[in-house]
Amino acid sequence: MIKIRNLQKSFGDKVILKNIDLDVAEGETVAIIGPSGSGKSTTLRCINLLERPDQGELTIGKNTYDFNKLTKHQITEIRRTTAMVFQNFSLYENKTALQNITLPLIKAKGYEKHEAEKTALEYLDKVGLKDWKDHYPAQLSGGQQQRVGIARALALKPEVILFDEPTSALDPERVQGVLEIIKEISKERITSVIVTHELEFALDVADKVVFIADGEVVEKGTAKEVLKSPKDERTIKFLGHFADKLEYVI
Ligand SMILES: Nc1ncnc2c1ncn2[C@@H]1O[C@H](COP(=O)(O)OP(=O)(O)OP(=O)(O)O)[C@@H](O)[C@H]1O
Ligand SMILES: [Mg+2]
Repeated sequence: MIKIRNLQKSFGDKVILKNIDLDVAEGETVAIIGPSGSGKSTTLRCINLLERPDQGELTIGKNTYDFNKLTKHQITEIRRTTAMVFQNFSLYENKTALQNITLPLIKAKGYEKHEAEKTALEYLDKVGLKDWKDHYPAQLSGGQQQRVGIARALALKPEVILFDEPTSALDPERVQGVLEIIKEISKERITSVIVTHELEFALDVADKVVFIADGEVVEKGTAKEVLKSPKDERTIKFLGHFADKLEYVI
């Protein structure tokens, strides 16, 4: 479904992503883990072109794109087939929960207003926020704002949803509720890539785990392989920081 080959990205003269390969089969949930600054967010942002990669190839479904030779049409196509859920929610502060979802449906997908509202309500209901549709982000808790962010991504019916640390900005008591929703999405076999530090969650939900360090894929495998029997020194060291948490589930 999603295949990335040789993804490279520099900022100035600093090489951030060296040679990233990533495979996500249809319906699969892949977790990306790794130290801070290793390039996890940049990888996701390159997939939906929030950052322009310097080199590499992306396949989504039947379409293969060369990052070096993207036409305007292809850029729109890639952005339409991917949706992102951000760490800081990235909602429009001056729009209600409902409008935050209808706006991209109208703008990016060409929905009529009434159609967009019907769809938005359906997805707000799915994340348990139908009664909050007229609230503005400032009137919602972090967990509720993130659920709006997830409903917005789902409503776009993308080929793949990209989650960038969706729970790391939340108060501890809000984390579980959001993780539950992501688990539901994963169970529905909606293709997703999730950058997370929630390793127990990754073990529970992800089909595959990819460990990235210094802009490279160091190790990948099933969640169990990578999280319970890591082979590379760097993975072992990284997971060591979470030892008490992982022991809990081993
Ligand atoms: N727009 C930018 N301009 C310059 N440097 C950037 C930019 N975005 C990211 N970087 C640098 O790229 C590197 C990788 O950043 P990235 O945000 O991808 O890391 P990360 O793995 O997501 O880290 P974290 O776990 O802290 O979110 C960092 O050194 C960061 O400073
Ligand atoms: Mg990040």
